Amino acid sequence: MRPFLDLTDLSDDRLQALLALAGELESAPVRRSLAGKIVGLLFMNPSLRTFASMDAGVKQLGGDTVVITPGQSSWKIETEDGAVMDGEAAEHVREAIPVLAQYADALAVRCFAGGRDLQADLADTVIRTMAALSPVPFINLESAAAHPCQALADWKTLDDLAVPRRGGRFVLSWAYHPKALPYAVPASALRMAAMRGMDITVLRPEGFSLPESVMTGAVEIARHSGARIRETSDRREGMEGAHVLYAKSWAAPSLYAKPEEEAALRSPLRDWCVAESWFETAAPNASFMHCLPVRRNVKVADEVLDGPRSAVVRQAGNRLHVQKALLLDMLTEERP
Ligand code: CP
Repeated sequence: MRPFLDLTDLSDDRLQALLALAGELESAPVRRSLAGKIVGLLFMNPSLRTFASMDAGVKQLGGDTVVITPGQSSWKIETEDGAVMDGEAAEHVREAIPVLAQYADALAVRCFAGGRDLQADLADTVIRTMAALSPVPFINLESAAAHPCQALADWKTLDDLAVPRRGGRFVLSWAYHPKALPYAVPASALRMAAMRGMDITVLRPEGFSLPESVMTGAVEIARHSGARIRETSDRREGMEGAHVLYAKSWAAPSLYAKPEEEAALRSPLRDWCVAESWFETAAPNASFMHCLPVRRNVKVADEVLDGPRSAVVRQAGNRLHVQKALLLDMLTEERP
């Protein structure tokens, strides 16, 4: 079984089958299909939704989990190859992954960007190394460059909202955040919308284009799917006719790993806090999406999050259904 590292690992047929199965699981959540199976959950970074939805999902399917949180429930774990381990980490992934794989039928791992080397982070070298060390099925629960379970849930959310695949207008917008954030979520959302064949606008201030490899990768997907991708820094124009505004913050690529210079570029951009006024030129009843967690009144105003266009709770709920479908697909013969 190939690891699930990015949404692009799925063919359109398999993706549609997973979404159909997720819909069945939403209607009838409890099965015994994973009885006797253990899923190892390794969280190198904090989580609310990903941890709770994976843990609940495995249990609703009759299985159980072993949860490892390095530095709390286990030794701190080093991820860098060739590291001289004279710091706090007492364990290396090169032992930790194959050891855990002996206790579990599948491993699911969260390991965020290192934030020091842009090219290594964009290549997702750490999660790919971990997946290669795993002899059992492996699921990426958010790495340096991808959050495929979120992207799968986002696709289902767009289906739930009846946003069309072709002709659906999807705006991926940068939003202010006090810190430089990695590219996993916006890159995955962009690839998801491109795979879905949508009419995509990346709305961002000057200096905050997504990294070139992320954009060219999405353009390549669009070439096959029929999606269209454009970029603008003009909010009014960018939001014209939008069915969905998907907000996320990310680091300025040219100042990656330069926090002080990056902060100077982003600090004047506090007005990139999504408000109702952003939707003036959007389609009627346009939806607002965000992966959560979100900083209220910094990244998004209360009026949007508490209003009828917000789909953020539905998005988080869909994490449960799509991940259960993925587990059945990877660990059993069950299909929709
Ligand atoms: N969206 C998401 O992955 O949430 P958590 O970081 O809380 O898991």
